[in-house]
Amino acid sequence: MSERIERLLGQMSLAEKIGQMCQVHGASGDFGDLVRSGGVGSFLNVVEPERANALQRQAVEESRLGIPLLLGRDVIHGFRTVFPIPLGQAASWDPELVEEAARIAAREARAFGVNWTFAPMVDVTREPRWGRVAEGGGEDPVLTAAMGAAMVRGFQSAGVAACAKHYCGYGAAEGGRDYNTTWIPESLLRNVYLPPFRACVEAGALTVMSAFNEINGVPATGNVHTLREILQGEWGFSGFVVSDWSSVAEMVVHGFAADEAEAARLAVQAGVHMEMVSTTFRDHLEALIRNGLIPAELVDDAVRRILQVKEALGLFESPYVDPEEHRRVVLTEAHRETARQLARESCVLLKNDGELLPLGSEVRRIAVLGPLADAPEDQMGCWVMDGRAEEVITPLAALRSALGPGQEVLYAPGLETSRSTDRRGFQDALAALEAADVGLVFLGEEAVLSGEAHCRAFLDLPGAQAELVRTLREVGKPLIGIVLAGRPLVLSGMIELLDACLYAWHPGTMGGPAIVDLLFGHESPSGRLPITFPRAVGQLPIYYAHKNTGRPPRPDAPPIPTGTPLDPVGFFSGYLDVDPTPLFPFGYGLSYTRFEYSDLHLSTKRLSGDEPLIVQVKVRNVGSRAGTEVVQLYIRDLVGSLTRPVRELKAFRRVRLEPDASEIVRFELRPEQLGFYDNEGAFRLEPGVFHLWVGPSCVKGLRETFELPG
Ligand code: NOJ
Repeated sequence: MSERIERLLGQMSLAEKIGQMCQVHGASGDFGDLVRSGGVGSFLNVVEPERANALQRQAVEESRLGIPLLLGRDVIHGFRTVFPIPLGQAASWDPELVEEAARIAAREARAFGVNWTFAPMVDVTREPRWGRVAEGGGEDPVLTAAMGAAMVRGFQSAGVAACAKHYCGYGAAEGGRDYNTTWIPESLLRNVYLPPFRACVEAGALTVMSAFNEINGVPATGNVHTLREILQGEWGFSGFVVSDWSSVAEMVVHGFAADEAEAARLAVQAGVHMEMVSTTFRDHLEALIRNGLIPAELVDDAVRRILQVKEALGLFESPYVDPEEHRRVVLTEAHRETARQLARESCVLLKNDGELLPLGSEVRRIAVLGPLADAPEDQMGCWVMDGRAEEVITPLAALRSALGPGQEVLYAPGLETSRSTDRRGFQDALAALEAADVGLVFLGEEAVLSGEAHCRAFLDLPGAQAELVRTLREVGKPLIGIVLAGRPLVLSGMIELLDACLYAWHPGTMGGPAIVDLLFGHESPSGRLPITFPRAVGQLPIYYAHKNTGRPPRPDAPPIPTGTPLDPVGFFSGYLDVDPTPLFPFGYGLSYTRFEYSDLHLSTKRLSGDEPLIVQVKVRNVGSRAGTEVVQLYIRDLVGSLTRPVRELKAFRRVRLEPDASEIVRFELRPEQLGFYDNEGAFRLEPGVFHLWVGPSCVKGLRETFELPG
């Protein structure tokens, strides 16, 4: 414990202590008196360097104890240089590059006075209807954990505190409707929803945010089990917990607290240390302590943690920023280059019939169609507070500047926005395609269709986009779809009409050049899906790590003739009207080359003691272009005291290979990676037989078997 912090704690009045536990929305207004009185520990949404410095000066030089302020901001996927949405970043399966992007975002934000970001969002979700699917790492705990930990390292290495959010279970919202109820058995909580948070804590995340949702009837912000017992007890988290925006006061609305005083008491008792925006701490903590309803030590513990974070960031020594620094820091060439690289790596090639892509130099006239070819705001995606549309390079702009002599772009969007149903532009789009050698149609969702509180019940292309594609198909020219979206869309019925399809998510500032790099083959696509793509909304929730059931669907099941009193083909877990498998599985993605797997080798077939399992596989580029493969390792624990998923991702590695080159890829699995938590929260490592696959997606790969003896 630092001497400074203990000394300060000894000097602080109760009001000053409670002040540290309050975060105020500071976007506008004069907070001089509040800051000077020590009545606030943090602001959010102060982003001008001069204003940040002025507030810090009032705190450090004009308040009694001189404690600097935490200035928080949602720096979710970049600051001025906007990177792909986090779901797109996860599609890169490239934690090193994601870490670098977070470092850049933090460097840019720090220059504006921001010293705390409310990121990474590490809510595992199996719900593409949920608008916030865009903000996280997808459906898998291991991939989400790797992305989250990388972001924590990146932000904090540039002097900005990270905040792992939203703790916890937020992604399990019923029906994919934001803020909705969650029911999460203990085993699922610990095996699926918590691992990314634990990884962030282990990576040193200085703060954690408590979520809006309730879990099994108890709001996450008043949840003794998840906050006090697991996060602070079992994991020994020593940073602090901030509530989400008014989530303390909302415990009254949930029907968990009778009034705001009770909400404050429940939050503090559960282990929330700072309240964002609502004022139940400010209004009630003093009386709660004086009346003995909460022990004063809880407040001391909270303040100690908050001061430790301020100390860890070096704010006591250097609370100010150079007001000119941001001019040198934002949107540098290097930042834009990293954004372009990450956007390239995030794109997933879903389809490429007849190797239509990459486009060769023989293509002279390119029709650029669809509502998202030139939509800079939408291309940035949700949760962009500081990016600027005029700094975005759209695919249309990038194509125009990439054209060689004799090449030409014919631009006709067909629809004004993704939701538009006005078909008056169809004629021009048709004419452009008729005059062209190839059509690039940029489809998808506007940014406003994903993100917080922006959920959808229909996941097909909005507006008249499907009709636009059908109309364009009639022309008979090669048609390539590029989808920009904040979630997996249901592409059934549409993808069949396209010869090739590249899924670009919302790719950020440099999305245009990145997409053009891929279309013209300067780089081969290497993104892989971080989440399952359903065939129909009715399949939800659909995810790869499902259980087998007692009657798994038969892969060869013939269509069931409806109307017969008894199903003549048997009783299996399927649908009458849709194949139960995904349209595109987790981990899937094509490349311009092909990779061959061979020589899968395990160091042992019977593990003993603490010995790790060494897995090696040979991956060879058997195509004619250089490319990057994402080598994925999955296991299945065949029999458990609780049934185990049919596959679980355990490790992955990006491998770049020139044509004909090969590499032995090596993985190390520790025995504890083979265990799981039960419904009492106990960790179990059970003896038995495991299958192990190494391959290019969750449905392919070479298989081996090994045993964990009793
Ligand atoms: C509410 C959101 O849930 C959270 O993600 C965000 O960080 C805060 N608002 C602050 O803007």
